[in-house]
Amino acid sequence: MKTTDQLEPTVLVIFGGAGDLTWRKLVPALFDLSQDRSMPADFSVIAVDRVPMSDEKLRQRLHNGVNQFSRFGKAKDAAWNEFAKHISYQQGDFKKPQTYAALGAQCARLEKEWGTKAHRIFYMATPPSMFGEIPKYLGKAGLARDREWARIVVEKPIGYDLESALALNAILAANFEESQIFRIDHYLGKETVQNILAFRFANPLFEPIWNRRCIDYVTITVAEAVGVEHRGGYYDHAGALRDMVQNHLMQLLCLVAMEPMVSFQADEIRNKKVDVLHAARPIDRDAVAQCAVRGQYGPGNNDRKKVPGYREEDGVAPDSQAETFVALKLFLDNWRWQDVPIYLRTGKRLPRQVSEISIQFRAVPHRSFPVGASLGWHPSRLVMAIQPIEGIVLGFQAKYPGPKMQLRPVDMRFSYHESFDAPSPDAYETLLWDVMKNDATLFMRADQVEAAWQWLMPVLDVWAEAPPSDFPNYAAGTWGPEEAQGLLACGHGWPLPTELVEQHKKKGKNS
Ligand code: BG6
Repeated sequence: MKTTDQLEPTVLVIFGGAGDLTWRKLVPALFDLSQDRSMPADFSVIAVDRVPMSDEKLRQRLHNGVNQFSRFGKAKDAAWNEFAKHISYQQGDFKKPQTYAALGAQCARLEKEWGTKAHRIFYMATPPSMFGEIPKYLGKAGLARDREWARIVVEKPIGYDLESALALNAILAANFEESQIFRIDHYLGKETVQNILAFRFANPLFEPIWNRRCIDYVTITVAEAVGVEHRGGYYDHAGALRDMVQNHLMQLLCLVAMEPMVSFQADEIRNKKVDVLHAARPIDRDAVAQCAVRGQYGPGNNDRKKVPGYREEDGVAPDSQAETFVALKLFLDNWRWQDVPIYLRTGKRLPRQVSEISIQFRAVPHRSFPVGASLGWHPSRLVMAIQPIEGIVLGFQAKYPGPKMQLRPVDMRFSYHESFDAPSPDAYETLLWDVMKNDATLFMRADQVEAAWQWLMPVLDVWAEAPPSDFPNYAAGTWGPEEAQGLLACGHGWPLPTELVEQHKKKGKNS
């Protein structure tokens, strides 16, 4: 259990302190940690940004964010006031040495006040264009020097392609040691994502069947019902491949496919994950069309409401070529996974929000039951539900009650909410706590980011050279373009989300 005394005095400097991420995610997560008594006794949050703002104004803004996004609901006045004392604002230009000199002085002042050395965490919650600038200034100001006590946190996107990721990693490496660099992929902070390792490697049951002998294919779906919301400007430049596949989906892939780790050391786990990316069969430029599908949503219905097409969203070019949907087929060339197709798909404005990994097992080698007994036969399937349902479902065949031998698919379910009293912390709570603890297990290492880019580059290049002629090619509120079906081998299918399957079953039972 996390306790206050486990964390040492910490100064958290947030560049982009007046921005959306700080307001929506970072400060609510810190506040929630403080409510769980998981913050150090001595801590200070210094929000740095260009706009003029008083401490009081900033605190009011952040209070409003906490009231909306804290998992404890609206903050009680006493709790907020106690927490807010630790927050201050510093106006400063990210490209001026004075900003960093002032920060250094402020950190030193706090250390003097606390009578001890403090961890200094520099969090870049800024537009990506600043990611390559801030580390240089921190380096020049001497604020990166202390390997044990200074850390930098980088939000995704880490680069725009392999070349820019290499360049950004080089700037970071010129100023910080790799052990000081925390590259965030918030998916890794989700409880259900961390549970993939627990499920696979804390139970001897599944490991012997987790391979090509028993598994027919794997699908990883990260679907969103929302459109681009207020982020059209950023998204139109990025697209779904950069925004979701290069990071979140590749991380899920690594956790599902990696070999067992020997210890729980950060680098041991990260080594095993990088091995997965190294095993990904390179995509031939000429074969991109056979293993990658892109789509963009047009107008449609979302939750029975009419919604505009992507090209009509704020901040999006009216002739935008950005993809809002991607489906990929890949193979891992190693002993465990050789020739097992792994399908990834993600998209915005799909019918519902669902992130699930489905492991489809092979059919039995011989059906010894009478033909009529096994109508509707489904080979066993295991679903790791990341969100909104949080749990694991194992589908298998069972005998239907009655004198005859009749088989029906049934489910065995584990649900987080039913099994545990403890609420799941938000991913940012876990990740911020880990940065303060100096534990990099859940963060992306430079080589992993680069390997993911390297594998995707043929798709990015071919797509950039041949812009799509059929966009928009799926209506909002549908499961993406038809071509995504064509990626699948004969007999394979994109699974229905667990929530829908359960609704259908309930209806079937009641009718
Ligand atoms: C972000 C992407 O990294 O993840 C967004 O930039 C996306 O486009 C979001 O909406 C999804 O995260 P979650 O936790 O809501 O699944």
